[in-house]
Amino acid sequence: MVLFKVSRVETTPFDGQKPGTSGLRKKVKVFVQPHYLQNFVQSTFNALTAEKVRGATLVVSGDGRYFSKDAIQIIIKMAAANGVRRVWVGQNGLLSTPAVSAVIRERVGADGSKATGAFILTASHNPGGPHEDFGIKYNMENGGPAPEGITDKIYENTKTIGEYLLAEDLPDVDISTIAVTGFEGPEGQFDVDVFDSASEYVKLMKSIFDFQSIQKLLSSPKFTFCYDALHGVAGAYAKRIFVEELGAQESSLLNCVPKEDFGGGHPDPNLTYAKELVARMGLAHLESQEEPPEFGAAADGDADRNMILGKRFFVTPSDSVAIIAANAVQSIPYFSAGLKGVARSMPTSAALDVVAKHLNLKFFEVPTGWKFFGNLMDAGLCSVCGEESFGTGSDHIREKDGIWAVLAWLSILAYKNKDNLDGDKLVTVEDIVREHWATYGRHYYTRYDYENVDSDAAKELMAYLVKLQSSLDEVNSIVKGIRSDVADVVHADEFEYKDPVDGSISKHQGWVAYRGFFQVYWFHEHILENAFELYWDIMSLGKMNVYWFHEHILENAFELYWDIIMSLGKMNVFCVFRLSGTGSEGATIRLYIEQYEKDSSKTGRQSQEALSPLVEVALKLSKMQEFTGRSAPTVIT
Ligand code: G6P
Ligand code: ZN
Repeated sequence: MVLFKVSRVETTPFDGQKPGTSGLRKKVKVFVQPHYLQNFVQSTFNALTAEKVRGATLVVSGDGRYFSKDAIQIIIKMAAANGVRRVWVGQNGLLSTPAVSAVIRERVGADGSKATGAFILTASHNPGGPHEDFGIKYNMENGGPAPEGITDKIYENTKTIGEYLLAEDLPDVDISTIAVTGFEGPEGQFDVDVFDSASEYVKLMKSIFDFQSIQKLLSSPKFTFCYDALHGVAGAYAKRIFVEELGAQESSLLNCVPKEDFGGGHPDPNLTYAKELVARMGLAHLESQEEPPEFGAAADGDADRNMILGKRFFVTPSDSVAIIAANAVQSIPYFSAGLKGVARSMPTSAALDVVAKHLNLKFFEVPTGWKFFGNLMDAGLCSVCGEESFGTGSDHIREKDGIWAVLAWLSILAYKNKDNLDGDKLVTVEDIVREHWATYGRHYYTRYDYENVDSDAAKELMAYLVKLQSSLDEVNSIVKGIRSDVADVVHADEFEYKDPVDGSISKHQGWVAYRGFFQVYWFHEHILENAFELYWDIMSLGKMNVYWFHEHILENAFELYWDIIMSLGKMNVFCVFRLSGTGSEGATIRLYIEQYEKDSSKTGRQSQEALSPLVEVALKLSKMQEFTGRSAPTVIT
């Protein structure tokens, strides 16, 4: 067995190693600086504490982007030096982010070991290559991203780090071959276990979905399918699941060979970047001559995001999660006993809220960032959740899951068509969405992104909005000066979240302007929050009144609250402004616009047209062009 020694390497801190929404993301040229990656990895080990790291089993893999292979060898040598017992690596260093979460939770090593955490090497949907982005994030034993308590500690450590541990003489490990390689260090044995990237994940998917019914759907000549991995790591799973397990034709797969630079593209599954798929689905101006497939989907670089398309039809992520939640129990065996609850991020539309209300489900609104869902799931409060940013998932793991979302949609399609596969016409994606709108109403929704704007300008814009919130008269006089047909803003504030599980508070999570919010706000403040107080006050008035109050207010408070919200509340969110936490250069300002339409005769409009008055007002109100110099967004979804 190869013996290795441990060296202490001197280093000095780098500025700006603060993990964002999903880990540390920087240009490759930043990451390749001597000691840069090492400082971050050692700061993570130190944050976890030496006693937790010693003897641990760590997963190290990612989306295969440029610099991953070098990074894996560095992390292996540092793990060995820090007393880690085993490092698990997906073959060729490839594991999708959801697969890492599944491996942490499900995989048992040949010696009975279980993983205690993971370094995931990805910058998600950001481009890759020598001039593009690299990223690293740490996931915990539950399979989810490290909580803020840990990421804050990592950041603090990066500011003071003076040395790191390295097994310099440990030879590079062949990560292209499935095998366990053993080494001997000062603290005993150290193993590197290279394993098949897909098998654990495939097994998990088969335990969740009814593969047979999906297979039947895919084998129907009337059902056509297309999946675009944008040259990200999803390709490694798509072939195994869609082709080998479910019998889809190989020609259904687009860009499914993982590449270090994602083929030069931007691996973000949206209408702007998934160009080939968008054209194939008949959604682009340059529509292909062929009849588009019935169903199309795409993933981002690390395969945790998804975009769902029907023939010439786009499903907004906010609608997608609502539709999955509404149909999960009938269509997906994993949920047959019912949903524990549902959740969405704050800027996501309220389509899910309406489903929660109708199905009488627990419902949560959390800040942007998947880790907030993880806490709810660990506490058994949430089964299905989603974000406007093309993320959808469930409590089967603690990350969002791009392929899971596609399988969920295929399951819904299979269920709706189960007695129909020989009929004249299949129920389509578009039929399902339109039926959903007819039942629940439609949340028109759009997002404008201003990428890579000057950081100071972005902060100034946000500060300007925060200042405006205290003078609604001024806001409304500006609004009326822009368009008289847009309703008054009745409340504006910054979103703040108190985690119902651990009580932690997250502030400054985005600026929200509401129309017609006052009643809800009042109701919330005065009835729900003070219900107990009021109840005691009424005690003094006699049993009769208490009884009435209890029956009519307390017991029905939730009902009433929902009714009011449904008619006046989140549907009347007018706009949300947020700074992205995932960029690697400058700042990205996101503007989210939403409008609810309950009248089923009015749910069929083009969303850009339906929302244009609100967009115009939001942009002028925020002085977007004055602050950023931008006359148009980089991306509209
Ligand atoms: C990542 C996170 C998501 C988040 C998304 C957008 O994908 O995992 O939870 O919604 O980034 O973040 P941003 O801060 O760029 O809007
Ligand atoms: Zn991603």
